[in-house]
Amino acid sequence: MNKFTSILVISSVALSFTYCSSGSKISKSSSNAAKGLKDYYKDYFLMGVAITPRNLKGEDSALIVNNFNSVTAENAMKMGPIHPKENEYFWKDADAIADFAKNQGLKMRGHTLCWHSQAPAWMFKDEKGDTVSKEVLLQRLKEHITTVVNRYKDRVYGWDVVNEVIDDRDSVFYRPSIWYKICGEDFIMKAFEYAHAADPKAILFYNDYNTENPKKREKIYQMVKKMKEKGIPIHAVGLQGHWSINNPPREELEKSINMFASLGLPVQVTELDVSVYGGRQGGQLSQGQRRDTTTVFTPEMEEPQREKYKMIFDVFRQHRDKVTGITFWNLYDRYTWLDGRGRKNFPLLFDINRQPKKAYWDVVNFTPEKAPANKQVL
Ligand code: G3I
Repeated sequence: MNKFTSILVISSVALSFTYCSSGSKISKSSSNAAKGLKDYYKDYFLMGVAITPRNLKGEDSALIVNNFNSVTAENAMKMGPIHPKENEYFWKDADAIADFAKNQGLKMRGHTLCWHSQAPAWMFKDEKGDTVSKEVLLQRLKEHITTVVNRYKDRVYGWDVVNEVIDDRDSVFYRPSIWYKICGEDFIMKAFEYAHAADPKAILFYNDYNTENPKKREKIYQMVKKMKEKGIPIHAVGLQGHWSINNPPREELEKSINMFASLGLPVQVTELDVSVYGGRQGGQLSQGQRRDTTTVFTPEMEEPQREKYKMIFDVFRQHRDKVTGITFWNLYDRYTWLDGRGRKNFPLLFDINRQPKKAYWDVVNFTPEKAPANKQVL
């Protein structure tokens, strides 16, 4: 493939759709060259992306429809944004993403019904401003989950019911969140029961990060195992996958997939990105380090990132019998939540101009193999 045709193919992958802002189905151009990520992995697992209402029109919407067959709302379905006051829901943003998914024939993951972050303050306080009782908080959680899950019953196939309740400190089991302080671990079990009662067909996930850290992984494993033994309706485990150029090592990733699958549960990677900075989570700046937004994506960043993406997707393909979906956290490098950590990051497969990076071609460069008999295709 000479230089000219490669430019032709590259630009067609990103922009092979006539895009429109209305809800109507985005039409595919005739050029078969415009195979997207989801097409390369159609017999392997779902290919998803976390988006905001800003991504639902123009070239962003074409990039989504061309490469992904599943979407997640980055923030719109979280408790605070969707339920800002006790008797008030803000549906507009979540509806826009759910409608887009439905109109474009995309699946949707629901994120997230119960989390310690972006939870509205009113949830935990009574009219006098005092902290509510366990009974009142569980009743409010039930009302929230029942209302939200019922609204998206025909659009959302799976929910991150509970997110990040395991503490990162080896000596602490549960994160001492306000949920835990008021309810103990019961809020976790109840959340799954409420979600299952609201939509018995939905696949219910426990979702967390640093799931390749042996100590944290063991705690998550013990919690999920206990839930299964207690008959709590948990159906899958979400490995967030906020990884970097030097984390995780292959063997720890494989151990995590095998460990959770050994509980009879499928696994998904629900928030994939590969930071170009090693060290602390996603390249967080150290004390006194100056905020830097001028950074450009260099070959020194690109090469180790390509190696990591190649390894990660080789593992996913090898474990396709256990992995049912991969979701990227954000669409292309122009905007990533990691930029909020003080320096510009480039963690995704599409560059700041929505063009596929070399890592993209590494990820789609494989010889498809016939699906194993026990493959769970969603
Ligand atoms: O919507 C408000 C806006 O009205 C206000 O003007 C602006 C200024 O403060 O804040 C906006 O809210 C921000 C929200 O993103 C929407 O952009 C919040 O401050 C900001 O904290 C929030 O960040 C989100 C973060 O979760 C919250 O913890 C990130 O976008 C989102 O990518 C991130 O996603 C989480 C997953 O849900 C769970 N796993 C980790 C992952 C990364 O932290």
